[in-house]
Amino acid sequence: MQSTKTLCGSKIEPSEGKSILGIVGSPRKGGNTDTLVDAVLAGAAECGAVSDKIILQELSIAPCRACNYCKKHGKCVQDDDMEFLLELMEKSDTWVLGTPIYWWGPSAQFKAFIDRWYGVDQRTFQGKRIILTIPMGGGNEHYARHIIGMFKDICNYLGMTFVEAVVAPGMNSKNSVRESASTLESARAAGIRSKKLSRVSLLTLL
Ligand SMILES: Cc1cc2nc3c(=O)[nH]c(=O)nc-3n(C[C@H](O)[C@H](O)[C@H](O)COP(=O)(O)O)c2cc1C
Repeated sequence: MQSTKTLCGSKIEPSEGKSILGIVGSPRKGGNTDTLVDAVLAGAAECGAVSDKIILQELSIAPCRACNYCKKHGKCVQDDDMEFLLELMEKSDTWVLGTPIYWWGPSAQFKAFIDRWYGVDQRTFQGKRIILTIPMGGGNEHYARHIIGMFKDICNYLGMTFVEAVVAPGMNSKNSVRESASTLESARAAGIRSKKLSRVSLLTLL
């Protein structure tokens, strides 16, 4: 019999703790996006979550060709790492998606990844929970509005839950997030909240 553990103030079963996936859309390993995603995952881990993390720059994910092969065959014509990533995504209930702001939008790596959702069975997405992490060089949180708006619409369309966005303005150098205790703490707190919230939804369902 599995033992129940008390974490973050409530009792959880070991099986409940699994499945949060971080996906980093910045080409800069160890930079601000990567660090923010790590901090959210660390917060969730404090509450018993088991996590994986993927750096898109380390995978080969080609842009969508709009050939519509996927609509006929149920899979993309391009044989790259997207299939492997989708397997990881299916196994997790929460996705921590990180992109730096590039020209008021997401990075090219991140956008290519999202565009490939076009060919994926929509059941893959239903019920998934999304946390965004968005660092930027500029000083105004409002610059993240296009990425947040885009994700609210995507979540609505695909039946996912937009949980929250951790927005980090003024992150000009590669180490800016590491040097900002308050930013790290906001990201960690988002990870903690995500696991508490998913437990509440689970209990509501039972
Ligand atoms: C190509 C490029 C475009 C950028 N565009 C913006 C922008 O529109 N607004 C902004 O505030 N910062 C912009 N930045 C700054 C990055 O968002 C910022 O440095 C971020 O912290 C980088 O995250 P990283 O360390 O994960 O790569 C841009 C940086 C690059 C390289």
